[in-house]
Amino acid sequence: MRPGKGQHVASGDGNYRWPHRHLLGLEDLSAQDVRFLLQTAVGLEDVSTRSIKKVPALRGRVVVNLFMEDSTRTRSSFSLAASRLSADVLDLSGSGSSVSKGETLRDTARNIEAMGVDVIVCRHAQSGAAMHLADVVSCSVVNAGDGQHEHPTQALLDLYTIAQHTGRDTFDLGGFTVAIVGDIQHSRVARSNIHGLLKLGAKVILVAPATLLPRGFADLGCELCHDLDSVLPRVDVVYMLRVQFERLTSQAFPSVREYVAAYGLTKRRLARARPETLVMHPGPVNRGIEIDAGVADGRQSMILAQVTNGLAVRMATLFLVCTSSASSP
Ligand code: CP
Repeated sequence: MRPGKGQHVASGDGNYRWPHRHLLGLEDLSAQDVRFLLQTAVGLEDVSTRSIKKVPALRGRVVVNLFMEDSTRTRSSFSLAASRLSADVLDLSGSGSSVSKGETLRDTARNIEAMGVDVIVCRHAQSGAAMHLADVVSCSVVNAGDGQHEHPTQALLDLYTIAQHTGRDTFDLGGFTVAIVGDIQHSRVARSNIHGLLKLGAKVILVAPATLLPRGFADLGCELCHDLDSVLPRVDVVYMLRVQFERLTSQAFPSVREYVAAYGLTKRRLARARPETLVMHPGPVNRGIEIDAGVADGRQSMILAQVTNGLAVRMATLFLVCTSSASSP
């Protein structure tokens, strides 16, 4: 059944039921899980194009956004996604809550849950925070970014965008090559994308200075490279990561100027890639550092498409964790 005509969402495999009460990362999902979630998002995409942008799929459910780190895209996207499914939404941040008085994450979450909550969407600076929450509450937990660990819905919306713009309706990315460029070491976006891309069959090349690219990433099945110019001609997607100045604890590169010279995506450098190569970035963008304004706003840029697709992917995520076989009494 199509969204808007009832409580159910049409998706790919008739015999499959989403088995996960939480979404904590992509590492532990199967390829079938990832494809099912993305197919569910396809069924929900058109809700956001209607004059009345709402379906009753989660009417009566309560979603709490618990964001202990700043966010523009993820927080607003989850809020809108929950509203479009007719759930009640509560937004809480660290600075405006009793966390600022010293209350622990555990106590905060358990007190919120005591008000009758179905899903807690959590962003936190600590890797493993979402997993910890899932251990101490009974409701569903969705990881909206935990430290350097994972940012699963970012990767899901990225996979969705790649498939949408390359006609891969079945979310099979076999034969595709994606370069992820920049601060791999500190990036939860990179980790989730690596897991997701490999599960869907893509080849992943990680491109960064050696100081930001631990050799252990090769064990995941990725190619490692330090030379962006040599990689660009053979990629279908170049995914630029933000330089996370707030997470760089030591001097990872000699100077910003030298980083830009070697890894900044300028129009001139992008000309080495094929004209149909997609340019992606999770945001927020450091214009003039990892990517030039002319590329970020250019014809090959998927940056705003990524944000748009975040809504359908987060609607699918909230719908599935709320209605999973694991959430049933
Ligand atoms: N991509 C991303 O997570 O952006 P925000 O930090 O604005 O949520």
